[in-house]
Amino acid sequence: MEQIVIRPMEQADLPRCCQIEQYAPDPWTAQQMAEELEFSSARMFVALWQGELAGVAAFQLAADEATLNTITVHPDFRQKGIAAELLKKGLCELKEQGAECCFLEVRSQNTPARKLYEKLEFVEAGLRRGFYKNPSDDAVVMTKKL
Ligand SMILES: CC(C)(COP(=O)(O)OP(=O)(O)OC[C@H]1O[C@@H](n2cnc3c(N)ncnc32)[C@H](O)[C@@H]1OP(=O)(O)O)[C@@H](O)C(=O)NCCC(=O)NCCS
Repeated sequence: MEQIVIRPMEQADLPRCCQIEQYAPDPWTAQQMAEELEFSSARMFVALWQGELAGVAAFQLAADEATLNTITVHPDFRQKGIAAELLKKGLCELKEQGAECCFLEVRSQNTPARKLYEKLEFVEAGLRRGFYKNPSDDAVVMTKKL
């Protein structure tokens, strides 16, 4: 069995994805995640680690522009390359569907996420001061050409 498998998210994945999402700094509610899955512009992926659902990523695709809205790996499965694989496979799929670039926002203090995006060759495109609350933080806007 391959260690990491990435596939589109399905309805049946929702309970586990919502559980994982609670480990994000600004987690989506279960309702938000369920509603998102219904949007035609949503592109949601899950990562399985040795068959176990370990991570979730939610993108949107509008015309030729993709946005990464959330990516979370369960703490028990971190630093195994799962988020990097989710992003790579997700972006590859979005490119095939016509995306030419991807945008995201990240808390300036979120070092693991910023390092992840830098590794995947996202570059800083701007700063939104005081964008996040609880705790207050700036949003770093990052982009990558696909
Ligand atoms: C950010 C997050 C998704 C990374 O997931 P992960 O599966 O552990 O990441 P990976 O194992 O794929 O790591 C890929 C790269 O990310 C960076 N990275 C990941 N965790 C890191 C950490 N704790 N410290 C520093 N860099 C880190 C590294 O550059 C790493 O590459 P390397 O292994 O060659 O050093 C995970 O920490 C998480 O779920 N955090 C909470 C949710 C969150 O903050 N999401 C982002 C919102 S914008």
